[in-house]
Amino acid sequence: MELMEAIRNRRSIRRYKPDPVPEDKLKAVLEAAIWAPRAWERWEFIVVRDAETRGELAKAAKGSEHVGEAPVDIVVCSNLKGAKARDRELYSIQEAAAAIQNLMLKAHEEGLGTCWVSEFREAAVAKALGIPRGVRPLSIISLGYPDEAPSAPSRKDLGEVVHWEKYGAR
Ligand SMILES: Cc1cc2nc3c(=O)[nH]c(=O)nc-3n(C[C@H](O)[C@H](O)[C@H](O)COP(=O)(O)O)c2cc1C
Repeated sequence: MELMEAIRNRRSIRRYKPDPVPEDKLKAVLEAAIWAPRAWERWEFIVVRDAETRGELAKAAKGSEHVGEAPVDIVVCSNLKGAKARDRELYSIQEAAAAIQNLMLKAHEEGLGTCWVSEFREAAVAKALGIPRGVRPLSIISLGYPDEAPSAPSRKDLGEVVHWEKYGAR
């Protein structure tokens, strides 16, 4: 798949077919994730296929049904043990975000859909998955074969968000 086509056509998927995701595809998306630019590789990925646990994640995600419906959820965490302030607040989150983007684009290339979910109660996710103190769950990525084809939400024009050379210069 051509890169810009993959970037433009990937959509957040919130309806999934029940079909399981083959192990080789799961490994391919995780491999894409870890080849993102990395800082200290604090990222950790919890692959959740168990239906009961996915249900608990859906509840923790304030009733995001697709989290329970998708055959897989990948919970992206950052292991913050020993992290200094800037690492904790910035690097760890930025490297995880880069990994998530890679993961989502690879999933798209594999014919899979994903949705990036950050709206959840962290303590509830940690409890459901036995995540120890010092490891922070950052995002839940629902993953599976899409059962919808949403149209693309708009983006701001480049002219609204790009400053040339100095802030405010268009
Ligand atoms: C940091 C971040 C957090 C997000 N959290 C949620 C979420 O909690 N629930 C959800 O349904 N979608 C969430 N999304 C997905 C966005 O709603 C979605 O990307 C946006 O509407 C654009 O749609 P598109 O991905 O199809 O282009 C999140 C996206 C990002 C980047």
